[in-house]
Amino acid sequence: MSFCVAIDGPAAAGKGTISRAVAAHFGFAHLDTGLLYRATGAKTFEGLSAIDAARSLQASDLDRDDLRSGDAGQAASRVAAIPEVREALVDFQRAFARRLGGAVLDGRDIGTVICPDAEVKLYVTASDEIRAGRRYRELQTAGEDITQTQVLADLRERDARDSARATAPLKPADDAHLIDTSDMSIEAAVAQAIALIAGKING
Ligand code: DC
Repeated sequence: MSFCVAIDGPAAAGKGTISRAVAAHFGFAHLDTGLLYRATGAKTFEGLSAIDAARSLQASDLDRDDLRSGDAGQAASRVAAIPEVREALVDFQRAFARRLGGAVLDGRDIGTVICPDAEVKLYVTASDEIRAGRRYRELQTAGEDITQTQVLADLRERDARDSARATAPLKPADDAHLIDTSDMSIEAAVAQAIALIAGKING
């Protein structure tokens, strides 16, 4: 049986942490769809066009060490605005969403475009400042030389681009549950997500 959990929201809202915890709890597979766009963007650094990069994407492209950098995030957001790039990545994501045993996908358009019939849809947000603080600490740990002000500007630029694009923009699905993690511990957000999903499985 398939069971799809769609988790969308802006950058650094806590989607990744919640997705991994939910997948581990229920034994579901997890796909961080941002990685597909990051890997596509990173391939354009080598001179490939974005569309060719997306069409030729392979599993090994997702293992690159540099995909978590700020530059890869910006490149991802830029290539993600190209309809043909998104189109090239749809089938893989839809097949993943309907694999047997359950799947959690996190991204920007999972509940709206990739899996509009997902059994559970979550939209995870947090204030800009809180998100920038979290991402800053992550990047610092990874050794990136960047200030919190730069991180905040970077997130706002990406969110504006991701929300304004014509194809599959970042927005909550009408039937998504909103989880605002601004004033919530990550444990509390995970517990809320697990309760919602368990309710759906058992109900
Ligand atoms: O989740 P992330 O920060 O790794 O995503 C990087 C960029 O990829 C994000 O700014 C927009 C794009 N993206 C998208 O357009 N659709 C998705 N489902 C996931 C990511």
